[in-house]
Amino acid sequence: MANPTFTLPARSATPQLKLVKKAPKSTDAFLVPALAGEEGLELPGSTLLDDASLREVLRSLTAVGATGDANEITRVPAPEKLGVDSIIVVGLGDPEELTDEILRRAAGSAARTLTGLETVATTLGMFGLAAAVEGLALGAYSYRGIRREKDSSTPVAEIAFLGTEKTDKAEFETAVITAEAVILARDLVNTPASHLYPESYAGIIAAEAETTGLKVEILDEKALAKNGFGGILAVGQGSSRGPRLVRLTWSPRKAKKTVAFVGKGITFDTGGISLKPASKMEDMISDMGGSAAVAATVIAAAKLELPVNITATLPLAENMPSGDAQRPGDVITHYGGLTSEIINTDAEGRLVLADGIARACEDNPDYLVETATLTGAQMVALGSKTAGIMGTDELRDRIAGIGRTVGEPAWAMPLLEEQESELKSPVADIRNSHNSRFGGMMFAGLYLSKFVSEGTEWAHVDIAGPSFNNGGVSGYTPKRATGVPVRTFLALLDQVAQEK
Ligand code: BES
Ligand code: ZN
Ligand code: ZN
Repeated sequence: MANPTFTLPARSATPQLKLVKKAPKSTDAFLVPALAGEEGLELPGSTLLDDASLREVLRSLTAVGATGDANEITRVPAPEKLGVDSIIVVGLGDPEELTDEILRRAAGSAARTLTGLETVATTLGMFGLAAAVEGLALGAYSYRGIRREKDSSTPVAEIAFLGTEKTDKAEFETAVITAEAVILARDLVNTPASHLYPESYAGIIAAEAETTGLKVEILDEKALAKNGFGGILAVGQGSSRGPRLVRLTWSPRKAKKTVAFVGKGITFDTGGISLKPASKMEDMISDMGGSAAVAATVIAAAKLELPVNITATLPLAENMPSGDAQRPGDVITHYGGLTSEIINTDAEGRLVLADGIARACEDNPDYLVETATLTGAQMVALGSKTAGIMGTDELRDRIAGIGRTVGEPAWAMPLLEEQESELKSPVADIRNSHNSRFGGMMFAGLYLSKFVSEGTEWAHVDIAGPSFNNGGVSGYTPKRATGVPVRTFLALLDQVAQEK
């Protein structure tokens, strides 16, 4: 029987992005940057604002007390001859301190004020085209949800970026594909577990991936059993909706290096028999955020035709309690043969990832990068916005550094020698929990390290906090799914593409 096809039940509405030499004819508003200079508000001249218009807009801005501080948005009537309704001015703060991240955040804040408009032309790209594109596209994001009524807050339909340089086109296209990848990851994570379960999720990834020339392989329960994926099977056995392992492969002709990605894909984490408390359990639809980020990254890498061999190994399972569920005290056999005593069925991510990592290592990658909403302890240690990175020294520090430069905060964390003894089990090679209130993020990292083949450079990225925003909207970060760490991964791939 052919595999049934699945599509995402809702894609978020996103603006059309265009690179233009001059503003389209029927533009509603110009979106322009302002700075907070030494002598107050500064309005840079541009192709959109000639000298006379600039003076008029500046007068209006001064009249309403605009300062040009970062994230300040001021809407003023447009000088008549410009043929648009309004000028929307977004502050970027002190020009001496302007960074890509400040620009992305300001652009994101601006994007949310554009709802309902048809076409907006912008010169925000003059301070960094990629950052302006990412900020506006990601800031305009709003998840449509699965509802009968149409969502009234439709984002701006079209944003036209003014760009004239020859290099602009490539930078623009890369930024658009990057933003699309983040948006895909967000849409996947925001999709409820009623609609997104291992089989449907695998089908959705396959449909997206196949349009870009990626090779797709899906192992169902039977194939998982035949090949000894004991961790994925153990986690999935409590659910009536069986687990899957998705493998995506990108092998371009000119590639020199191989990067293997692995991502946690728990489509819903109840905790299993070690059941979670009811409060906020609904957020556990986000427990597949690692796999969503990896799938979106690899799809984008294929669209960008990056000259790097890439594999994605995505173990997908639903962690449910039932008469068939695994129990605390069970011993499972991971892919590759290592056995593990289950202390806590809620420490399920490491079980599916261990199989995935062991499988990914068989391809002898130059770099192994794995990400997961793995531990509550990540948020205890680093808060809700900063990912914890563990692994071999160089790759760990490199990824933490990249994360910070692209605006996806990350911090290197150690693997702890003293926790080696805590991994020991009286009945199996290792155990999946150390029953301690201390160092839970690092314990999980140490567990995973046992499945990385000797000599492989690897990094484990714990995104329990940063992948899902429980707080308010800010900059280009919406509520709920954030799409972290897609931009970190794409920046890493961009670096690796240049290695010999
Ligand atoms: N999916 C959770 C981790 C999580 C918690 C992610 C909150 C995002 C927000 C993971 O499977 C889990 O439950 N981990 C346990 C491990 C413990 C039982 C050793 C945890 O962190 O409490
Ligand atoms: Zn769990
Ligand atoms: Zn989990």
